Amino acid sequence: MKTVKTLKIKYGSAADLIPAAEIIAAGGLVAFPTETVYGLGGNALDSYAAEKIYMAKGRPSDNPLIVHLASADDAGKYSHTCWLFDKIADAFMPGPITVIMPKKKIIPDSVTGGLGTVGIRVPSHPAARSLISLSGLPIAAPSANISGRPSPTSFEHVVKDLDGRIDCIIDGGKCQHGVESTIVMINRDEDGITLLRPGAVTPEMLLEITENLRIDPAVSAKFEGVPLAPGMKYRHYAPSKPLSIVDAEGPLFVRFVNERPGCGVICDDEDFDEITASYKISLGGVHDAAEHGRRLFDCLRFFDDPVVANEISVIYAKMPEKSGVGFAVFNRLVKAAGFSVIKPETQY
Ligand code: TXA
Ligand code: MG
Repeated sequence: MKTVKTLKIKYGSAADLIPAAEIIAAGGLVAFPTETVYGLGGNALDSYAAEKIYMAKGRPSDNPLIVHLASADDAGKYSHTCWLFDKIADAFMPGPITVIMPKKKIIPDSVTGGLGTVGIRVPSHPAARSLISLSGLPIAAPSANISGRPSPTSFEHVVKDLDGRIDCIIDGGKCQHGVESTIVMINRDEDGITLLRPGAVTPEMLLEITENLRIDPAVSAKFEGVPLAPGMKYRHYAPSKPLSIVDAEGPLFVRFVNERPGCGVICDDEDFDEITASYKISLGGVHDAAEHGRRLFDCLRFFDDPVVANEISVIYAKMPEKSGVGFAVFNRLVKAAGFSVIKPETQY
């Protein structure tokens, strides 16, 4: 791919983003921070910009892009909204949720991978909001990683993947949630919703909106069949060495990994000092699911570093707590592990 000079902008205030907004309006690509992960944005009304996004990421063009708006009030311009959308928007927007609804014609088919539906998201990060407002356009954006890599949760991750491939990268520091937005699809009958991807808006929170909440089986089990979110049919991110989740409490987990020299370990703060592996990294305090979310993709990228990957044969991750955003952390981890979960015997 042709190398372009990538403009880097450090975000301080909205005024810093004027050149980036101009790039979007002119059909170019800008990576920007959101409260979940960094996005790779282009004009959502321009099918050529969508093609450029697929090319820069190396992503199959039938995997639809999410459309980012400055306000939920604009959703009706691009999609057929309904009372359930209004309830979700009142409760969670701006914030880490994407709602899938029938699309209006103004959104090109190339943006939705040929689907008749579109994902609408209103991010809360001030840089994302300013970029959308200043460009005066809806912004189509997948996560700003090369296809098959973990989503980027810092400016450095985006630079590693996309420097020289896109026009501009905005530096907004580390992302608040670190896992991608919750995705829900509104049922065709408008009588309930289906959770396609867990995120910081948890199933418990969604149950406050409607009791008719279905969790797509692909969320926690190996998927067989036609997926609702096309992204799920592609080989998902897998680390450079085999990863397994180990379903064991502190002392048993420590013993399991210490008996296996040469492994890499993803653990929590409480176990860290007891683990003898040379390559170990903590997701945070054992009960701190929010911190696990913030650190997860950075931990996975750590083990993809060729120097580290060379030194280990396998990676073991401690089973995270699944409450709150922990369910999303578990979902990303178990997919990265290809659904490999080991439950060690309590007696050796
Ligand atoms: O937090 C996020 O959602 C981030 C930030 C940048 O907003 N974006 C993100 O986009 O994670 P992406 O493209 O990496 O993941 C979007 C997922 C894909 O699996 C895609 O297949 C699914 O959403 N998706 C998008 N539009 C869809 C639609 N109309 N129907 C079903 N699934 C859809
Ligand atoms: Mg992605």
